[in-house]
Amino acid sequence: VVRGFSSSAVRNVVIKNVTIIGGGQMGAGIAQVAASTGHSVTLVDTSDDILKKSIKTIEGSLKRVVKKKFADKPEAGEEFIKKVVQNVSTSTDVESAVQSSDLVVEAIVENLKIKQDLFTLPQHTIFASNTSSLSISDIASSTSRQDRFGGLHFFNPVPMMKLVEVIGTPATSQETLDSLLNFSKVLRKTPVSCKDTFGFVVNRLLVPCIMEAIRLYERGDASKEDIDIAMKLGAGHPMGPLELADYIGLDIINSDPNNPLFNSSDLLNKLVAEGKLGRKTGEGFFKY
Ligand code: NAI
Repeated sequence: VVRGFSSSAVRNVVIKNVTIIGGGQMGAGIAQVAASTGHSVTLVDTSDDILKKSIKTIEGSLKRVVKKKFADKPEAGEEFIKKVVQNVSTSTDVESAVQSSDLVVEAIVENLKIKQDLFTLPQHTIFASNTSSLSISDIASSTSRQDRFGGLHFFNPVPMMKLVEVIGTPATSQETLDSLLNFSKVLRKTPVSCKDTFGFVVNRLLVPCIMEAIRLYERGDASKEDIDIAMKLGAGHPMGPLELADYIGLDIINSDPNNPLFNSSDLLNKLVAEGKLGRKTGEGFFKY
């Protein structure tokens, strides 16, 4: 690719002001990490009540961070929390919230139409979606700035998990990718690059493993306890696949009827129908 500048002088958009749209589990986590690394963050959601809860979540999470990081300096810890929270402002008006931002990260409900509606706004900024299962190209298709559109896929819980998958579509510019990779590093995460393919890297490998574990158990080939022990001790995984499924939530394990590796199973559907969604409801494959 011939470019007007050498690769040693990669043109990066320096990201200072970040708008996070969606103050749920992921959005609050991303806002916390961005604010903790000195960014000026605007968190957007549909109501002030939700945003108040998001800030509470951030404060609670920061308290846990500080307990470890500032164990012998509680005052410095308090100061840190104050500074980080000051870096976060909230808004229910997405249009004005994005005006001065260098990067907009979208972390709203997993619904293509709603995500596309969000991006029909005129922007000078980079857009990034945190989607786990939708195609970045499909979301970007409603914008006229596809060169400045990519995926920034964080993992839950965001403050703990070190990985960010940076997703480029064929239309994403190198400058945008470089900026997203660089931003991830400034957040003190480790980015990996991946094309816009179903599941990206982690879920592409993890979901089939979980689904196979469920099928193995469903057929009665091994007990659920033994399946988890086997993968912990035999493959070095920190959690067994069924325990992990419960942790993620059985209702949000991505299935794709068109892909045999991602096909759902009767047992998984039955547990979800019974409201046994894993840890968050007290029961999934195991009881909590
Ligand atoms: P969540 O349900 O906790 O949060 C979504 C938030 O978006 C809610 O607070 C909701 O009020 C808000 N929202 C909905 N429509 C909106 C709109 N039009 N404008 C502003 N705010 C709006 O969901 P969660 O788990 O945080 O997921 C968000 C995104 O992150 C999804 O795309 C999901 O695929 C992705 N993701 C989720 C992971 C997870 O483990 N939960 C992991 C990685 C990505």
